[in-house]
Amino acid sequence: MRKTPKEYAALIREKSTVIPKVALVLGSGLGDLGEQVENAVAVDYGALPGFPVSTAPGHKGRFLLGTLGGKPVVCMQGRLHFYEGHSMEDVILPIRVMRQLGAEILILTNAAGGINTSFSVGDIMLIEDHINFMGRNPLVGANDETLGCRFPDMSFAYSPELRDLAERCAEKVGTRLCKGVYLACSGPSYETPAEIRAFRTLGADAVGMSTVPEVIAANHCGMRVLGFSLISNMAAGILQQPLSEEEVLEAGRRKGAEMQRLIVEILQNL
Ligand code: HPA
Repeated sequence: MRKTPKEYAALIREKSTVIPKVALVLGSGLGDLGEQVENAVAVDYGALPGFPVSTAPGHKGRFLLGTLGGKPVVCMQGRLHFYEGHSMEDVILPIRVMRQLGAEILILTNAAGGINTSFSVGDIMLIEDHINFMGRNPLVGANDETLGCRFPDMSFAYSPELRDLAERCAEKVGTRLCKGVYLACSGPSYETPAEIRAFRTLGADAVGMSTVPEVIAANHCGMRVLGFSLISNMAAGILQQPLSEEEVLEAGRRKGAEMQRLIVEILQNL
């Protein structure tokens, strides 16, 4: 049986006294940042009764609580995806748990396909806004007024102040940041070339299979959000070659360290 976010937060608090200021969701191939968390306490999703577990490649499936960049943090090393068969409610459960633990800011990373043809593999895109093409909204159903309101505003879903900070930090650490709109599909199949052409017309710069439900839930419960996409491949049809899961993980291995330096710099400056 699923427990409530409050109940899961209470179980986690039995293992760690850290009151996180920032929650981090570490995406495909980017989970290594967790290794830098100081005085880390790990809580496996599987150790929490009834908690959904992640099966995606490159995702460990645990919370890590500790200190990073001098700030108390909770990390999700491994997120839950809709394409794994999880309900939307389960996909956003960890976000609500991390909010209950005290986190006020959510930083997310993901691997994404580049739609904007001025992007190259290995680029890091600061997410300015998103398009929800998953066909679902994670807040459908009865609204819990103790978490947030029925019709949350999404005008500033990706905090303008945090984006400014990210740009300043990127300059300082020498990371070139692209900026753009992230479009989320449910997956698990990659998109067709026709879909990618259509998404480009709609204003999307990158495409992936995550992040949007978590961002909606975080805005609903009053968190400020910052998101980054690592362009792990060019989206379908742009290059005359098929897409593979391996190139997605490889991009994380190549550019993960740079993404980590940027995030630590941001944490230090919060
Ligand atoms: N499409 C969807 N999701 C992705 C991609 C892609 O090209 N690359 C990494 N995640």
